[in-house]
Amino acid sequence: MQNVLNLTAASRERFERALEGCADTLAALPVRDRDLFELRLERWFQHLDDGLGAVYGRRPDYDAFVDRLVRTLAEQYASRPEALKRLDVERDLTPDWFQRERMVGYVFYVERFAGDLLGVLDHLDYLEELGVTYVHLMYVLRPREGENDGGYAIADYRDVDPRVGTIDDLVAVCDALRERGIASCVDLVLNHCADSHAWARAARDGDPHYRDYFYAFPDRGEPDAFERTLPEVFPDFAPGNFTWVPEMGRWVWTTFHGYQWDLNWSNPEVLLEVVDIMGELANRGVDVFRMDAVAFMWKRLGTDCQNQPEVHDLLQALRACSKIATPAVAHKAEAIVSPGDLMHYFGTGRRYGKVANIAYHNSLMVQTWSALASRDARLMTHTLRAYPPAPPSIAWGCYVRCHDDIGWAVTDEDAAAVGWSGGAHRAFLSDFYSGQYSGSFARGAVFQYNPATGDRRISGSCASLAGLEAGLDAGDEVAVGLAIERILWAHALACGFGGIPLLYMGDELGMLNDHHYLNDPDHRADNRWLHRPPMDWTAADRRHLPGTVEARVFHGLLAILRARGRTPHLHAQTPAEVLDTGHAKAFVQLRRHPLGPLAAIYNVSEVPQELDAGWLIDLGLRQPFDQLEQRFVDLGDGRLALRPYDRLWLV
Ligand code: GLC
Repeated sequence: MQNVLNLTAASRERFERALEGCADTLAALPVRDRDLFELRLERWFQHLDDGLGAVYGRRPDYDAFVDRLVRTLAEQYASRPEALKRLDVERDLTPDWFQRERMVGYVFYVERFAGDLLGVLDHLDYLEELGVTYVHLMYVLRPREGENDGGYAIADYRDVDPRVGTIDDLVAVCDALRERGIASCVDLVLNHCADSHAWARAARDGDPHYRDYFYAFPDRGEPDAFERTLPEVFPDFAPGNFTWVPEMGRWVWTTFHGYQWDLNWSNPEVLLEVVDIMGELANRGVDVFRMDAVAFMWKRLGTDCQNQPEVHDLLQALRACSKIATPAVAHKAEAIVSPGDLMHYFGTGRRYGKVANIAYHNSLMVQTWSALASRDARLMTHTLRAYPPAPPSIAWGCYVRCHDDIGWAVTDEDAAAVGWSGGAHRAFLSDFYSGQYSGSFARGAVFQYNPATGDRRISGSCASLAGLEAGLDAGDEVAVGLAIERILWAHALACGFGGIPLLYMGDELGMLNDHHYLNDPDHRADNRWLHRPPMDWTAADRRHLPGTVEARVFHGLLAILRARGRTPHLHAQTPAEVLDTGHAKAFVQLRRHPLGPLAAIYNVSEVPQELDAGWLIDLGLRQPFDQLEQRFVDLGDGRLALRPYDRLWLV
């Protein structure tokens, strides 16, 4: 393959030497297995070396480090179970497996959905009924005792939280899911570990090797210098970005809570540890790593220490590691960042298409709620139109709600482009969704008010934010109906955008805010638990009772998901563009597929609208067929009539 792959001379030299270095490990394997490893190593080595080299290349021990890393990868591959090696080949052959229109994600806390890991096995039929092909299992790896940020303070990445089971249970669940064609996704918290992780304990005990896994400063000099440009993620319950650790006599970098210690990725030992963990979990059967809080992985004085180029290099290197040793695995980046920063997580420029396979489309989610509150699609159209085309090898994670709050990531520039003030619009959205705005349909709560910036993020379940809670409380059938339409509207948008729709547990039934978290001392301070309720299986049973809210939401959503599965245009590879029709109430996305165009049209208001259909006719959609409702749509007089909260997928 040498002449095809074109490794640079320096990389080829490193590749040859690294391969030599794992000859012993590979010698024990059947010839075909050995060949596959070599071919994959060669195929992805340039990505690996470029990513690593950009970060660590100037270190005198760089070559030795690469050798160690490749030996680790060879060992992972050698111990990979046969069934997973087969899956590797399957996914090498079908690299678009996560981009297909049949992909449907479902996201849940294991404990809240099923009690524990093995309990998930009792609900596989439910997942299958929804057509789920991908589940994000939350709160699986062992977190610290006591407060743990909803499971995002990991005390042991190689073990499972005893409250939900054992590592063998995780294997059993991954196996059972795979048998049903469902991929499993587990969180890999990359920016920080818990203060009780063995690395942190060793650092606290004064071990210099492990102290270097963290950022620890003897006095306030450097922390103060960094703080000048650092924002605060949890200004309310964890102000500042550094925590004094008396046993160490040091200020430790803690972007999130004081018990979440940021890992020092400038130390290559940290990368080696993480690669080793990834391989172990991948060999247990995990298909997708949700790489948590990646934006924060690199620190640079004078910046906000987010989205630094080294983050993208590190993620490129990590992805190459999976491609080499455990190629069935995909990486999903959790970077909840501004529109301008997001595309880098798929790779731009020299990293194009090499960084993450999947990334959350935070902007789509924010614009969904912004459009619903303002009954205006112009900001959404402007913001989403400005995105450069994504690489054809990726998929957006498209979601309406998740376990986190909603931060109003609307830039002043984007707001100004439609004649709005960014600050005023963000304040309006916070007022609207916390229910303070008169006439608001939403019931949410302010999360982390930051007096310095005026930011007020929002917690609340999809249904409560969409008006269902207020409608039900008022016994107002019209309001209930509109709320259900909003829930379905938002989900149609997420399902029709051309990535993996990620349904958040309970939203398929219209589950409301849950205030029980106030009784739990570990959750009380964090109102994100408002929208992390236990699954209401009694409500789920009501999906079979026609006319109930649950049945209306569930079957409405099911119809959207079914339509998605029979619309090949929604394969994530299909080029897509947001169209500006000049109509303030209509959001329009066009996908150009060899089968013909798909025009997805959404009326963002509860008032009927009319759209000039000239452009549809120009596209050849003279007698369009709506994939969602399976009916032909009339464009008789060159106008398209839109019903309240209408959504149409016209082909
Ligand atoms: C991610 C998680 C969030 C957590 C944070 C810190 O954003 O989704 O729940 O608080 O990372 O780990």
